[in-house]
Amino acid sequence: MPIITWNDLMSTDIEAIDSQHRVLIAIINKLHDAANDGHEKEVLGNVLKELIDYTEWHFAAEEGHMTAHGYPDYEKHKQEHKKLTEQVVDIQRQFEAGRIEMTFDVMRFLKGWLTNHIIDVDKRLGKFLSSKGLA
Ligand code: FE2
Ligand code: FE2
Repeated sequence: MPIITWNDLMSTDIEAIDSQHRVLIAIINKLHDAANDGHEKEVLGNVLKELIDYTEWHFAAEEGHMTAHGYPDYEKHKQEHKKLTEQVVDIQRQFEAGRIEMTFDVMRFLKGWLTNHIIDVDKRLGKFLSSKGLA
């Protein structure tokens, strides 16, 4: 069962950003399924790496939109991305070191990690980009 289901409250009204968020949701759901199915550490580690790689790519894409359109909250949003990246890299480090496992608590953290940022910070960016004519 997926731990995150897309809903319209998450929509930023910017199609490219929404479709990237759907990919992030799919990767977290894949991690959740892999953990529930008791996959080996290596499999979980690969999905975690996929999550980090795509997250970094997605954040850079959003930051590109912000600089291209002179977003006034650019610095703040970028700092938020930096914090989120550090948090997920920290999970990876602890997981690889055998200090944590992909428990329900970790998965629930990742769910909030992504959805809170989308619903608050990314939706504000979406409103701004919409006002600049992006869709
Ligand atoms: Fe985002
Ligand atoms: Fe963002």
